[in-house]
Amino acid sequence: MSKWAIVTGASSGIGAAFSPLLAAKGYNLILVARRRERLQALQEQLVKDYKIEARVHVADLTDPEAPKNLLDSIEHPIDVLVNNAGFGKAGEASAIPVEDQLKMIDLNIRALTALTLTFLPKMRERGSGCILNVGSVVGFVSVPYMSVYAATKAYVLSFSEALDHETRPHGVRVQVLCPGSTQSEFYDVAQSGDKKIDRPDSVMMTSEQVAKIGVNMIGGGSSTKVAGFMNRLVSFIPRLLPRRLMTFISGRFTPAAPSK
Ligand SMILES: NC(=O)c1ccc[n+]([C@@H]2O[C@H](COP(=O)([O-])OP(=O)(O)OC[C@H]3O[C@@H](n4cnc5c(N)ncnc54)[C@H](OP(=O)(O)O)[C@@H]3O)[C@@H](O)[C@H]2O)c1
Repeated sequence: MSKWAIVTGASSGIGAAFSPLLAAKGYNLILVARRRERLQALQEQLVKDYKIEARVHVADLTDPEAPKNLLDSIEHPIDVLVNNAGFGKAGEASAIPVEDQLKMIDLNIRALTALTLTFLPKMRERGSGCILNVGSVVGFVSVPYMSVYAATKAYVLSFSEALDHETRPHGVRVQVLCPGSTQSEFYDVAQSGDKKIDRPDSVMMTSEQVAKIGVNMIGGGSSTKVAGFMNRLVSFIPRLLPRRLMTFISGRFTPAAPSK
């Protein structure tokens, strides 16, 4: 019986890295993002290398109709949904256009929630399936100069953990992978105005490393996994410090801080 997985944000970074790893495990794939050429190139590569079926679904997931359109376009049961598409905008909140900040909420929260709740009922009926939501280590703490982005990832963490508690007894999992700084197009997109966010590759994990941790956690015991030892440490520290102090520290050290 063939297995099918959906990867959102498959045109670059972590989502692009998820796809061959899932293909290697025998999943047929539905690749979702806005950039058609990138998805088609990945599709061709996957079909050639892994002899799987791969489909391209071009969509702007901030369109409220997008989750239903995706569901309607699929004939197979979905075994794994990787809700990876997301972006952040860095800078002082008052200086970033309101529309950009609301788009973050539309994609990171609204689309992720809609896709989860669109595919969950069928998984629940079948008594199997896994939704892997991509959160972030910033979901554990408030982050000045990335305030809206960090808040969207706090939502992803809270939503996924609560849902996993509901669905686990019924054979369905809703898990959350929390990467820290990762080499991808993320920081290019996060940049507001001319100020480049300087993040040396040496302090970042690669998208492949992060995706590997994600693929290995699918269906396993953990509801939540932080990618990498240093990031696990970073996600643990907020449990020990007063929230105001933690916010001060994250505001000083975030790569988006104005002093950087
Ligand atoms: N890189 C990091 O440091 C880091 C750290 C923690 C968490 N994360 C999370 O990891 C996930 C993947 O990010 P990444 O680092 O791989 O960044 P990335 O390279 O910029 O990839 C983002 C992906 O999301 C897709 N996307 C963006 N807007 C979309 C929209 N409106 N509709 C559909 N797809 C859209 C992009 O494709 P198109 O542009 O083709 O649509 C792209 O495939 C995100 O949820 C991000 O928040 C990243």
